[in-house]
Amino acid sequence: MNRIAWLLLAFLLPLAAAAGPAAPAAHPPGAAVASAHHLATEAGIEVLRQGGNAFDAAVAVSGVLSVVEPISSGLGGGGMWLLHDAKSGRDVFVDGRETAPAAATPDKFLDAKGNLDPQRSQNGPWSAGIPGLPALLVHVAEKYGRLPLKQSLASAIRIAREGFPVYARMAHGYALKRQVMDRYPGTRAVFSPNGKPIREGDIFRQPDLAATLERLAAQGFDGFYRGTTAKRLVAGVNAAGGQWTLDELAGYRVKEREPIHFRYHDWTITTAPPPSSGGIALAQMLQILAPYDLKAMPEAERVHMVVESMRRAFRDRTFYLGDPDFVKIPQRLLLSPDYAAGLRAGIDPDKATPSDLLSGQPTPLEDEETTHFSIIDADGNRVAATQTVNLLFGSGLIPPGTGVLLNDEMDDFALKPGTPNAFGVMGFEANAPKPGKRMLSSMTPTFMESRDKVVALGTPGGSRIITMVLLGILGYDAGLQAPQVAALPRYHHQWLPDVIDAEPGAISTQAAQALQAMGHRIELPPDEAAGGRGSSHVWGNLQTVEWDRRANVLRGGTDPRNPQGKAAVLAQP
Ligand code: GLY
Repeated sequence: MNRIAWLLLAFLLPLAAAAGPAAPAAHPPGAAVASAHHLATEAGIEVLRQGGNAFDAAVAVSGVLSVVEPISSGLGGGGMWLLHDAKSGRDVFVDGRETAPAAATPDKFLDAKGNLDPQRSQNGPWSAGIPGLPALLVHVAEKYGRLPLKQSLASAIRIAREGFPVYARMAHGYALKRQVMDRYPGTRAVFSPNGKPIREGDIFRQPDLAATLERLAAQGFDGFYRGTTAKRLVAGVNAAGGQWTLDELAGYRVKEREPIHFRYHDWTITTAPPPSSGGIALAQMLQILAPYDLKAMPEAERVHMVVESMRRAFRDRTFYLGDPDFVKIPQRLLLSPDYAAGLRAGIDPDKATPSDLLSGQPTPLEDEETTHFSIIDADGNRVAATQTVNLLFGSGLIPPGTGVLLNDEMDDFALKPGTPNAFGVMGFEANAPKPGKRMLSSMTPTFMESRDKVVALGTPGGSRIITMVLLGILGYDAGLQAPQVAALPRYHHQWLPDVIDAEPGAISTQAAQALQAMGHRIELPPDEAAGGRGSSHVWGNLQTVEWDRRANVLRGGTDPRNPQGKAAVLAQP
């Protein structure tokens, strides 16, 4: 090329670049928070305004959720948080899952006939694992935050003391669990103040919880796991017939783990490793689906392929997964694209695979009540955080003088050992309880990153968490934005029972008929078949934020199924 041609090229190239699409922005134009309660989102935004980063905001949001959503999560439970530290570029998974108390051997959960006794596994002192969320808050604040814990937890302390109005979901959940909660004097003192059970619209005050939060804020780890709070927790559990020790509380540790990373189309997906089952199942499903252009497929074919990927991932989950500190998980194999290709090869494009052809022994799946929030800050730090007390109001037990409602996470272990499956006994063994072991979870806090977009997402929903996050990722991949992704109608298959469960509007009547002709069983939503389960047949509470780097815009999506949720964007120079 001669000199004139080079000069022309040098002149024209910048013009072409200026006329083309904008280069992706280097930093978000502010911050975004989405959570299941408006007071929690507002606390996160306030901390960001005060100069905190996404990690301080996460501590604030989590602390307030612990106060205003006792139905779902709290200091007496655990959490799994995925962090992206913009400065180092590092992703880290912070595992604040509860651990099994030493005394909680499998026989403690069986009745006289040797059957699992839900009164022990789901209610009261034996159902509770050693809490992990307080240690997680301290760890994240000290290692990643900018603000003192006192400042990040200030809103939680104030709301616990001053109170907030009881909302319909909380009142409804309380009505369902009240019989259990009324058994314990510490719980009655909080939920039936002056002998009057709480009702929708009442101002719900938790002075003991405010004091517990203050001790945590002032003393960090020791403010919960040693001293006054620890003594009251152990005394309350043991007075209710359980068996905790002070050493067990003092010995609790948060674990930092390497997240799971894999590619799907143009995205890098970063998600939860064991002891969550979510990330491995998600990677399997998406790697099975990767070669297909799902956007271009007719609806019935698309749902068929997605359901077949769900069926296979859920079947594998039974055999291999548990706490990685206790069991050897063939993670490299399960995450390999070759393994996914093998699973894909077994899918008939025209016919459902009956689940009983995929041999195995089902194990119990995780339960429904949990919460999730997502945050991005102006530096590009991100948090996708899921936290839980397991079922509605966890164990129902508040040790007197603490305000801390304990989890019933022990039910997430495979508590009834034995029944060998076709491949040995791994299904039960991998997730059998042992002292100090973490129970398997479905919590799937997830990041998606492409050249053009950065996303954080997650949801509660027990085993359905994994399929909701899958559909969320497929939604973003199809070009949807955060509010649409949070609202997407959902369908779910988990190998056994061999049925597709669908929300109203998730699968059209025509596609449902085509799927039935392929051999699928579908739990049809009520407006499409008489005898459906009614309009409550919806699930999840997905909270997501996205940074569109091309337009340099932040968006939040809060699940419209939950009127308390709120997504907010804070513009920052
Ligand atoms: N307890 C619900 C879960 O961990 O998935």
